[in-house]
Formats: sequence, C-alpha cells, structure tokens
Amino acid sequence: MSKLATAEALNLEMEEKKELLSPGPKSKALQEKREKYVPVGPYNITPFFAESAKGAIVKDVDGNELIDFAGGIGVMNVGHSPEKVVEALKNQLDRFIHTCYHVVQFDSYVELAEKLVHLTPGDFDKKAMFLNSGAEAIENAVKIARKYTGRSAVISFTGGYHGRTNMTMALTSKVKPYKHGFGPFASETYKVPYANCYRCPYNAAYPDCGLECADALENFFATEVAPDSVAAVIAEPIQGEGGFVIPPREYFKAIKATCEKHGIVFIADEIQTGFARTGHLFAMEYFGVEPDLMALSKSIAAGIPLSAVVGKSEMMDASGAGQLGGTFAGSPLGCVAGLKVLELIEEEGLVEQSNKVGEKIRKRFLEMKAKYPIIGDVRTMGSMCALELVLDRTTKEPAAAATKGFVDKTWQNGLITLSAGLLGNVIRILPPLVIGDEELEKGLDIMDQVMGEINAEYIN
Ligand SMILES: Cc1ncc(COP(=O)(O)O)c(C=O)c1O
Repeated sequence: MSKLATAEALNLEMEEKKELLSPGPKSKALQEKREKYVPVGPYNITPFFAESAKGAIVKDVDGNELIDFAGGIGVMNVGHSPEKVVEALKNQLDRFIHTCYHVVQFDSYVELAEKLVHLTPGDFDKKAMFLNSGAEAIENAVKIARKYTGRSAVISFTGGYHGRTNMTMALTSKVKPYKHGFGPFASETYKVPYANCYRCPYNAAYPDCGLECADALENFFATEVAPDSVAAVIAEPIQGEGGFVIPPREYFKAIKATCEKHGIVFIADEIQTGFARTGHLFAMEYFGVEPDLMALSKSIAAGIPLSAVVGKSEMMDASGAGQLGGTFAGSPLGCVAGLKVLELIEEEGLVEQSNKVGEKIRKRFLEMKAKYPIIGDVRTMGSMCALELVLDRTTKEPAAAATKGFVDKTWQNGLITLSAGLLGNVIRILPPLVIGDEELEKGLDIMDQVMGEINAEYIN
C-alpha cells in the first residue's frame, strides 16, 4: 500500500472514530442551574450554551462549533451578527435605548414602516405598525380585522401554527404540546383543512383534483359559520411548524377570491416565510396574491425581537388612537436592525441567494431520497427545505421517533437541525442565507450520514 493510501485509510478511520459532540463542563454546569431555576416549559433542542455566533456557525461556551441549519428557528436569514447590524445597534445604544414609541416617537420606526409598505405585495395604500413577537403580530392582525369588519369569527387552517398566546393557540392546530391543558381558548375560531398534497384530506391527486381543498372554505360557510360573521381568514403561505407544507400555486388565489366575495379580511402569516426565505421577499409573491394584512417577524430584525402588521390603510386605521401598540412594541433597537436587514437583503442579493442555496439543498435531499426509503417526501421553496420521514412509503406511517433521533444525532455530529410537522415526522432546515458553500456541503454531508444511520435503524 502506498504512503498516500495509508494516510487516506488513517484519515477515514479517524473520521469514523470521530467523537460525537456532547456538552462540555461549562455547558454542564449551566445545565444544572437551568434545571434548578428554569421550568421545563421553555424547551431546548440542544444541550449547549452559546458563547458566540457568526454567519452560519454557533460556538458554545466549551469551544464546540456547530453548523446552524436552524438559524434560531428562521430568524437569522442574514446570518448571525452581521457587522452592519451590530454597528447600527451600537450607534442606537449610544443615542437612546427606549423612549416608548407612544411617548416620544423616533425616526427608525417611521422609516421601517415606509420601507415595508413599499416592499410588501399589494398596489394599494398601506400602513405598518410594530410589535414584539410573532404571536403579538397575529393578535393585532386579528384585532385590526375585527375592528374593521365589525365581525368576530376567525378561520385558520388545520396544521397551522400562529403562536403560544391565547388567541394564537386557538388558531394553532397541533394539540400536543402547544395547546394541551391550556384551554379554554379564544372563542369564535374555526379551522378548515389546508392544501396538503402529500397527505391530501380528500384523497385526491394534484393537478387532476380540481383543487377540492380550495372549495372547502365556501362549503364551510354552509356547515360551520356564516360568512357575514367572519372577520378574517388567516393562513401561512407555507406551513412552518406544520412541516413545510406547500400548497399548489393556484390555492391562495382561490382562498383570497372567496374572502373578497364575502368581505372577509385575508391575513397572511409570513412570520416564518418572510424576508427572502422562500426565494421571494415574501412567499405570497409566489402565489400571486396580495393579502389585506400581513404578519411579519422572525428574520425581520436579525434576532432583535420585533414584529409587524402591514396592510391596507383603511383596515389599519379602523382602530382608534391607543387601541393598538405596547410599551416595547417597535423598539428602537428592533427598528434600526430591521432597516439594516432590508439593506443587507438588497445589497447581498439574498432573494437570489436563497434560491441558489435552496437548489443545492434540494439536489442533495433528492439524492438522499433515492438512497433512503425512510424519506417519504422532499419539500422545498427557496431555502425553506424539509424532509418528511415515513416508516413505509405506501402507508406513509409517520416516523416520529426516527425524526427525533435524527435531530439528536445531527447535533451530536456538529449540525443543528429542527423537527416539525403535525405528526412530528418532518425535518426542516432554515439555514442562514449567507451560509458558505463549504459549511453548507459539510452540513448536508452530516445530514446524509445521519439519515443513513437512521434509515438502517428504522427500515428493515
Ligand atoms: C408562522 C408562524 N406564526 C407565528 C409564530 C409565532 O411567533 P413567536 O414565536 O415570535 O410568537 C411562529 C413561530 O414559530 C410562526 O412560525
């Protein structure tokens, strides 16, 4: 055997024996405190404590490095701590931290509102206002729609996720863990089935199905709630927590047309899909639909808590002074970060980048699907990418334990991934759009290797 071949064999052997990542002493000590002082409710996917993060890499307090395919659950589209954002935040800290927008106004709030009004779909007069979290944006969008229409009912979709507050729990689908034991929920909320082509509730197949799912809304008015009682229909363009379920392109046009026919406000929850994630600035552009109201958050401000409701001026202005807002809503730090995020998306061509990264991921996912029968479905739009795991491709029996095992094994191998899905059997990834080729390929190699292990464990 040549010297080179021996070295290669040695490398391979070392690679095989590579130690799995586990929490080091500093993370372990913090974990002990965490268990003593923090309740279990605020869950954790990995056992690590962060020390620093840059781009697509998170370093923990013991020096472990992880490739981040979760991006703080779809928050870090522009990557961790981009210099431009950090600099703007430092400048803002030197100016002032908080005045409360309702007490003394500031420039960045109004400037960010102006930018979002122009960037969101819809060629009509719009206004924007800011809140702190995604759930809070949804709560406010519902308030705005109710005030505008004078109606109370709100319709959401099976498999949807809108947050953890009382109204947003009511609009959310997955019972465990999100709703279990937390009722009673906000009243006058209803759910219609979503368009889910992999698990079609009508056992139909696209495109021959005639989009039966889109008719469900109109039929619903005959059986469940009169349309003139409905203030709003709220939908994620792609269900996030629900497992990256992507409806057919014509679906939302039909839903919006039904809303228009009955004077119902159509709210797009673009909290997870927004800000270039799907290869469009907002996913509703793909569907060619102009929502009446949009709820935005997550990647809006590179990790500073911020959310927004943007929509038709006549609707946004229906609530009187003092009826909307909050102490921290639209903080100066959030708004300056939001302005820089929009600059970065433009300057760095992140919409296009999202498609480029997404194409690479899709190609690798399809290769994995060809090798591993446990992968039942590959769903991607831009860099919003998911794999649905099943124990049998014919019965589509969900492989929830395998999915949990996969996520654990990836972080043990230095990669953060996330699970999702109403049935807990979807692996979703939301990597920073600025991720380098090498990090992306390394992360995908880890996914491939771990999927091989999981496939061998669960499929005979
Ligand atoms: C589509 C969607 N809506 C609403 C929310 C709730 O946002 P937050 O956790 O900031 O309240 C989320 C969070 O995951 C989401 O993905």
